[in-house]
Amino acid sequence: MGIPRNPAADEVVLTVCTTCRREGSDPDAPRPGRLLADRLADRLAASGDDQPSGVRVRGVECLSACTRSCTLHLAGGPARWSYVYGDLDPDTHLDDILAGAAAYAATEDGFVPWRERPVVFRKQSIARIPPVDMPGVDLSADPTAKD
Ligand code: FES
Repeated sequence: MGIPRNPAADEVVLTVCTTCRREGSDPDAPRPGRLLADRLADRLAASGDDQPSGVRVRGVECLSACTRSCTLHLAGGPARWSYVYGDLDPDTHLDDILAGAAAYAATEDGFVPWRERPVVFRKQSIARIPPVDMPGVDLSADPTAKD
């Protein structure tokens, strides 16, 4: 028997695609995805009460949502739902992303009430993924059976 887990203590990770770029953008310019990752990391490294704690950023090359760039994945331990967001702008969405990550970090299950989510998390969600250990739909049941 182990020590009970506290899901709210699990670190929250923003995984940002660093290779995202917009259609028609200058191929020699810094990738907007890289800018988004760097700016989020800078903000989280800055001290201040307005920065969420227990949140970190990592970069990856491609989240396979390239038509919705810039993209990121928000996750926090095995007990929380995780999310993929797209159409993010490194110039205008930093505050919303960090506010959303802070609200998410305060939950045990990853569900932030709709009205408390920043607009980009309400309108630009690509996917939500349940915790791996969450029971799924009973696939042994006959969906055509009538009561
Ligand atoms: S290049 Fe960013 S999701 Fe594929």
